[in-house]
Amino acid sequence: MIDHSTVQQILDTADIVDVVSDFVSLKKRGSNWIGLCPFHNDRRPSFYVSRAKGICKCFACGEGGSAVNFIMKHEQLSYPEALRYLARKYHIEIQEKELTDEEKQAQTEREAMLMLNEWACDYFEKQLHETQMGQDIGLAYFRERGFNDATIKEFRLGYSSEGYDDFYKAATKQGFNPQLLFDLGLCIPSDHGGGHDRFRGRVMFPIMNIAGKVIGFGGRTLKKDKNIAKYVNSPESVIYKKGDIIYGLYQAKREINKLDKCFIVEGYADVISMHQAGFKNVIASSGTALTLGHIYAIRRFTSNVTEMFDGDAAGVKAALRGVDMLLKEGLNIKVLPLPPEDDPDSFVRSHSFTEVEEYIKQNETDFINFKTSIVLKDAQNDPIKRTAAITDVVKSIAIIPDEIARMVYAKECSGLFGMDEQTILRQIKHYRGKYIEQWEKERQQQKAREQRMRESGQPVDEQAPLPPPPLDYLQTEDPATETVTTHTPRGLSSVTVQEREVIKLIINYGMCFLCETVYDDGNRPTTVLEYINNELLLDQMEFSDPLYAHTFKKALQYIEPFYRDLETFNTNAEKRIEEYTKQELEKEDDEELEAMDSAGLINAQERKLKSAKATANLKVKNELQDFRCSYLQRALCSIDDAQVRQLSCDIATESLPQLSKIHTQFAVIVEDRDRLLNLVPDRLYNWKNALLSQRIDDLKARIATASPDQLPQLMEQLQELYKIRHQLASYIGDRVVNPK
Ligand code: CTP
Ligand code: MN
Repeated sequence: MIDHSTVQQILDTADIVDVVSDFVSLKKRGSNWIGLCPFHNDRRPSFYVSRAKGICKCFACGEGGSAVNFIMKHEQLSYPEALRYLARKYHIEIQEKELTDEEKQAQTEREAMLMLNEWACDYFEKQLHETQMGQDIGLAYFRERGFNDATIKEFRLGYSSEGYDDFYKAATKQGFNPQLLFDLGLCIPSDHGGGHDRFRGRVMFPIMNIAGKVIGFGGRTLKKDKNIAKYVNSPESVIYKKGDIIYGLYQAKREINKLDKCFIVEGYADVISMHQAGFKNVIASSGTALTLGHIYAIRRFTSNVTEMFDGDAAGVKAALRGVDMLLKEGLNIKVLPLPPEDDPDSFVRSHSFTEVEEYIKQNETDFINFKTSIVLKDAQNDPIKRTAAITDVVKSIAIIPDEIARMVYAKECSGLFGMDEQTILRQIKHYRGKYIEQWEKERQQQKAREQRMRESGQPVDEQAPLPPPPLDYLQTEDPATETVTTHTPRGLSSVTVQEREVIKLIINYGMCFLCETVYDDGNRPTTVLEYINNELLLDQMEFSDPLYAHTFKKALQYIEPFYRDLETFNTNAEKRIEEYTKQELEKEDDEELEAMDSAGLINAQERKLKSAKATANLKVKNELQDFRCSYLQRALCSIDDAQVRQLSCDIATESLPQLSKIHTQFAVIVEDRDRLLNLVPDRLYNWKNALLSQRIDDLKARIATASPDQLPQLMEQLQELYKIRHQLASYIGDRVVNPK
């Protein structure tokens, strides 16, 4: 559906760091970037992104791949959908052709749902802006609440008309499948057949996932009638899991990332008002209790969370509820009580930006301190209540994963409670022990449960992961058991293992310059891929593993485009050398020159020019090497062939720097890239050797069961194989000449 050159353009433009950054907060480490893995419950950054290689990888759970893979996995999209996503991101135009019926069929349910929701969102927006009722009722309501046009657009607010089945009719007329309308909860099947609308006469708040795709709606009634539900929300669906979705995260994520902090409020209106008032790092729990899924979604961007709530008694109670879960996950929780008569929405609307800022500065309180003051106030001078209050706070401190944080709180509490710090620390230790014991018990129970389910042939519920371990529990584990997963497949025969080593070289370094090769018509520079291909042709060898064979074939198809692109690269090289030279010259400071007489000046200028040129040349030479080295890997990691892509990504990510507790910054690492000239012949040799060994073993087995008259011939064959093996060892590398 997307033509080849556009695909190429998309893949060339997509920058992995940029693509991943939309979902994960990345920090630079060496030449790579690291962050918390979005594919599992990550506590310490295990997710590596390599801009040079164009790939990412989690060293804890193994997920990763190219930009396309990342988007496919993260957004649950198909290959073409992921390309489209990237095209949109980089404003690359795709000439879409009308979908054929077959293609429509092939779309996943998920994609169809996202498409319908997108259409529905657009429909409700149009209802709001373009119909009389929408303007008179919906738009008037938003205006009254102070939402401006930009805000209404940004949050894509809409309106649903009063009619019984206006939307149902419009959507089915558009060709959407009624079942899909029901599955998404936009419509409800009617008794007499057909269907009618869930949202009627309501202002619409689309709920978006982290990528900005509409996955559900909240509709607020405009009627005062107490019998009418104030909000009607989309039910859960394949694309809408309430426990994972936070309202406003899409609009807030960049700001949260930037400020390393977010505010949690309760309602849609609160988010929107605060956003409009200039506080863009705001998200809503939508009136429900926070789940682990919510927390993981937030924690990807920050661990500093401030809960905003009404200052009345109910608000305070609500604020205390559920916070333990945030503490457990290692978030730094603060609270911001508002004046009793206010919610965040009314508060920001009745104060200026600086007033709100000042209020935050004055009133934002650390959660533990806040809790302490509340429970102490309740206890007054009643000693029994006081003890209970202290225990209550100590228990909250005990679940905080960070030991230093626990110690700081112990100190503060000892002041507030007027108690000996050591006593409080002992208490904390006691409850922490209990907590970890409890956690271990739950883990064992869950493991046993899963085991039973497996044994009875039931599918194990993927949605119910083990409860997250307390951090210090992890830290006391033997570091050796924590080493990262390696992806060397087990149980492969030796030949396949050697084949994999060769395929690895091809994927990682296929277009790197290897050597000059002697051909009948003279010497020619040869890439790793060409060299391997020549060797295989000469020895009439093929990959026995079908996937490797297929990957090899695909790789060979890139030789031609590679040389074309290489030419373009070289054409531009001259220009770049000039540019770099200019840059280098500008860098030089002229003091030295001024101090010299004219004869010396000319000399010095010449010298400077020479050195600038040399630097520029070197820079471009390095660029060329990078270009060659990453060429095939980039292509194969994004190729339109799921199996080849998967293999390529697996292999490419294996070579990313391993994440270990002791960083390798002091060790000298000789990269494979710098010793290809040894590596390539060696690996080929190993493969051939493995093949020979396999033949020898086969032959030996035949000899063991052979009849006496067959024996002499078989023995001769065996001798022959031994001889070849011997020759091979000395023959190796003969075709390599004149390394550059
Ligand atoms: N909510 C809901 N269903 C309800 C009431 C509330 O889903 N019947 C959720 C909504 O996500 C709502 C949030 O709880 O945004 C907070 O409720 P509330 O404070 O009543 O709503 P606001 O969004 O503040 O609405 P408004 O200010 O317009 O009254
Ligand atoms: Mn409100």
